[in-house]
Amino acid sequence: MEKVQAAYRADPGLIGTTRDGMSVVLAPMTGDAAVRLGTGLAAIDPWARINYSAERFSTFLGSTEDGASRYQIIAANAIAGTVVVRNPWLAGPYLNILGLLPGFSGRGIGDVVLTWFEAEARRAEFRNIWLCVSSFNSDAERFYHAQGFAHVAQLDDLTIDGSDEMLMRKRLA
Ligand SMILES: CC(C)(COP(=O)(O)OP(=O)(O)OC[C@H]1O[C@@H](n2cnc3c(N)ncnc32)[C@H](O)[C@@H]1OP(=O)(O)O)[C@@H](O)C(=O)NCCC(=O)NCCS
Repeated sequence: MEKVQAAYRADPGLIGTTRDGMSVVLAPMTGDAAVRLGTGLAAIDPWARINYSAERFSTFLGSTEDGASRYQIIAANAIAGTVVVRNPWLAGPYLNILGLLPGFSGRGIGDVVLTWFEAEARRAEFRNIWLCVSSFNSDAERFYHAQGFAHVAQLDDLTIDGSDEMLMRKRLA
C-alpha cells in the first residue's frame, strides 16, 4: 500500500543544488507570489499559446481548495517559478504545472525539481509519476524524455481546439 500522506509536504525547503551551485528551495505559495508567477508565466509559452490568461493563472496558483500542492521555486534567493503537484493521481502523483520565469530556464533548476518530484514518489512507494506536455512544446518534451518519461497517450484538443497534450509516464516500479 502506498504511503500517500508521506509525500509532498507543505514546506519542503531546500531540495537541491544545480550544477552551478544555485540553491533550489520550495516554499508554500503566497498570494503575492501567485500573482507574480501567474502573470509572468501567462506571458510565455506554452500558456501564452493556449491563451491561459494572467488572471486565470494567478487565481489557480493562489487557490487552496482543490487539494493540489502549490509551491514557489526559489533559486539563489529569487522567485524562479512554480511547481504544482496532484497526489494521489493514478497509482502515483501528477505534475500539474512546472514553469520557470524567463531568465531561469536552461540552468538546471527544472532538473532539480523533477528529481525531487520523483524522489518523493519513490519515498511513498508509488509505481508511477505522470505529467502532460503540449504537443508544440518540443523543448519541454525533450527535457522530460531525458528524465525517463515516455509518451503514453495523445489527448486531442484537451485545453483548446487544435492543441493536443501528450500524457507522459515514468515507471518507478
Ligand atoms: C521545461 C522547463 C521546466 C525545464 O527546466 P530547465 O531548468 O530549463 O531545464 P534544465 O536546465 O534542468 O534542463 C535543460 C533542458 O531543458 C530544455 N528546455 C525546455 N524549455 C527550455 C527553455 N525555455 N529554455 C532553456 N531550456 C529549455 C532544454 O532544451 C534542455 O534540454 P537539452 O539539454 O536537451 O537542450 C523550463 O525550461 C520551463 O519552465 N520552460 C518554460 C515553461 C515550460 O515549457 N514548462 C513545461 C510545461 S509542461
